[in-house]
Amino acid sequence: MPSLLDIKKATVYRGATPVFDGLTLEIAEGCHTVILGPNGSGKTTLLKLLTRELYPVPTEESHVRLFGQDNWNVWELRARLGLVSSDLQQDYAPWATGLEVVLSGFRASNGVWPHQEFSDAETQRSAALLKKLGVPRLADRPYGAMSTGQQRRLLLGRALVHDPGTLILDEPTTGLDLPAAFQYLDVIRDLIRTGKTVLLATHHIHEIPPEIERVVLLKDGKIFADGARSTVLTSRTLSRLFEAPIELVQMNGCLQAFPADRTNSGARTIG
Ligand SMILES: Nc1ncnc2c1ncn2[C@@H]1O[C@H](COP(=O)(O)OP(=O)(O)OP(=O)(O)O)[C@@H](O)[C@H]1O
Ligand SMILES: [Mg+2]
Repeated sequence: MPSLLDIKKATVYRGATPVFDGLTLEIAEGCHTVILGPNGSGKTTLLKLLTRELYPVPTEESHVRLFGQDNWNVWELRARLGLVSSDLQQDYAPWATGLEVVLSGFRASNGVWPHQEFSDAETQRSAALLKKLGVPRLADRPYGAMSTGQQRRLLLGRALVHDPGTLILDEPTTGLDLPAAFQYLDVIRDLIRTGKTVLLATHHIHEIPPEIERVVLLKDGKIFADGARSTVLTSRTLSRLFEAPIELVQMNGCLQAFPADRTNSGARTIG
């Protein structure tokens, strides 16, 4: 499999903070992967390397290659990667209507602007995506007057307009209530089934879909563990990662984490 992402010896700063010091990581195209780690471990920074919002300090031996290529026209790259993040959600133009949010994906813009023109095909595709994501009634509603879950769906629509092969999701269910989180995860699982590769960054165990094959654990900007889901996602490893006693419980392929230091009388369903 060719590489989706090939990072070699990358040193990356956010402001004056060194987040990565010589990070090396390769992710193959088609391999659904989660980057999991505590707050501040560098997950979002890693995704920003992928979307070219951040660059490493240039050195002879370092590179960040995407789809096997060092240099990218950012527009072409954005058509291959669909991104939904909480940064984008927070910063997105509150006046844009639901349809405009999705349309803006064609220009990778934040909101829709008077100088931008959209073809009938682009408008029809955006309307179809609103329908597919179950929110056609939001077409005329301003983004700023929508719930977190509604905004998240529209941003997913925005990410899908180019039918990208890869979806990059930064904490996709944060801020969503239970049904909204479950519905959102279902939508993501459907997208995986249609052949999209998912690269997910999170510190929430429950939002890791069963289809995720590879788990990269990050801690303080370093790779703490990396491997197959069944080897890496264990109570023992996660307890070491988060420096807290954690017990993982699995149900229908999905995981949930619990504090492990309570009197353990076994899991039971609360009726
Ligand atoms: N804009 C910024 N300026 C300076 N430092 C930053 C900036 N953004 C992030 N950092 C720092 O970079 C480090 C990595 O942050 P990052 O956002 O990648 O972590 P994260 O793993 O995504 O955390 P979270 O789970 O809270 O989203 C942290 O120490 C953070 O304080
Ligand atoms: Mg983050």
